[in-house]
Amino acid sequence: MTSYTLRKGSPDKTRTDLVVIGVATGKAGALVVAPGAEAVAAAYGRRFAPLLASMGFTGAPGEVVKVPTNGTLNAAQLLAVGLGPRSELTTEKVRRAAGVAARNLGNVASVALALPAVDAEHVRAVAEGFRSGLYRFDAYKSGTKTGTKKSDRASVSEVVLLSDAARQREVIEALATAEVLGNQADRARDWVNTPANDLVPAAFAAAVEAATRGTDVRFELLDVDELRSLGCGGILGVGAGSAHAPCLVKLSWQPDDAAASVALVGKGITYDSGGLTIKPSASMKTMKKDMAGAAAAAAAVLTIAALQLPVAVTAYLPLAENMISGSSLRPGDVLTTLSGQTVEVLNTDAEGRLVLADALTMAARDEPDVVVNVATLTGACVVALGDKIAGLFGTDDLVTAFEAAAGTTGEMFWHLPIPDEQRTSVRTESRIADLLQHNWVRWGAASYAAAFLEQFVEGLPWVHLDIAGPAYNSGGPWGHVPHGATAFSLATIVEYVEQVSRRTAAPAS
Ligand code: BES
Ligand code: MN
Ligand code: ZN
Repeated sequence: MTSYTLRKGSPDKTRTDLVVIGVATGKAGALVVAPGAEAVAAAYGRRFAPLLASMGFTGAPGEVVKVPTNGTLNAAQLLAVGLGPRSELTTEKVRRAAGVAARNLGNVASVALALPAVDAEHVRAVAEGFRSGLYRFDAYKSGTKTGTKKSDRASVSEVVLLSDAARQREVIEALATAEVLGNQADRARDWVNTPANDLVPAAFAAAVEAATRGTDVRFELLDVDELRSLGCGGILGVGAGSAHAPCLVKLSWQPDDAAASVALVGKGITYDSGGLTIKPSASMKTMKKDMAGAAAAAAAVLTIAALQLPVAVTAYLPLAENMISGSSLRPGDVLTTLSGQTVEVLNTDAEGRLVLADALTMAARDEPDVVVNVATLTGACVVALGDKIAGLFGTDDLVTAFEAAAGTTGEMFWHLPIPDEQRTSVRTESRIADLLQHNWVRWGAASYAAAFLEQFVEGLPWVHLDIAGPAYNSGGPWGHVPHGATAFSLATIVEYVEQVSRRTAAPAS
């Protein structure tokens, strides 16, 4: 366990194993100490920049250098992290630098962070970035074989955030929020990183239920029999080929003073083999991640409840495993969704939209003010935007609100269109059913999926976040983003709800 405290104090005087500072670049690439660490630079005097430069440090983002202080500071070691050009310094760069620092601590028990923490927003960025950088998933390292040892990286037990604003109420709250959000992000990551043999639909539902114990979040489970009697043909169709039955989890936070209500709908495919429209082997190996939308939505409800935000939030999580067997869904099958609309299935690998169809109908029937859908939905979205940016679709005002929320959290979203001709294709091109699930046109497939989902939101304000790329980092860690599950979209969903609660709390004008 790591404890986090805020303190107003000078980094050169702070007694700790290691002090972290930010270093930016000024004119002609000269190294300049970032806000919060001026006293460290002063303690070194004119030796400061040449010392760092002599070790090859240039101040670029992602760069670190560690030096023994030999008594220049009260800390034994100094860790400098690069922030890039001082003129381009943003909160997001501070968040990333804090994550880089966390991964480069070495074997220390206590750390003082003297990164730019000038106000609440920066304190939150430092705390979130640092916590996120410390995340690792070693639940499956048994420690019995050489080379498979559980991470022996020291777990730092005491982290002090140095800030001149340490005693301000917003700053204290910012640290508390960062801790709540960070704990839930770690939980969402653990769920996504857990291999699909251990996280079948019922196991995922049980893990979510366990997470709600002792909280104000209400957990409800619709099992396969209930889905059958309701007529959730989409979820049942996708789950038909698996030995592990599908189900739907409903999580709700209902504060007494709720001024608005938000429905979250998260794709929960615990494994996506593609079904009979089977995926190539290479595309299958990380498909345990296909429930990342459900994980983010569940974690969002838990976070919003823990923060006691005055907005009612309900998550609808359709959980199913997309597998191959004698009972699998076939291309050519027609499913009747909960909405009553029939769907011609042409590609069993486009399963996300089928389970989401039923969950969106269920959400819309509860008449929320807005619907937020989050899903690892299409490879096409990753082709369009890369693996660090999510697609953002939906009604204009809500898209704008999400862009504003993402501006605060640093998560990157890009607004993509739903062209009318794709709506028309979804609605008219099946010769047998009401809707066509998939049209085998490669171009614009992320938009086609969004056009399909739109048929189930019953005209409510709605956004669809396609997180297929950023939900999972297959490469090495960077900034505050760990390898594997990232919990992408959790922070932005929570920030959106915070903005709604601020708006509804404001006196009517
Ligand atoms: N789960 C995948 C989407 C995905 C791809 C997520 C890559 C993360 C990384 C989804 O179910 C899928 O298979 N989509 C198909 C849709 C196609 C058949 C229209 C795809 O993207 O190829
Ligand atoms: Mn698929
Ligand atoms: Zn999928």
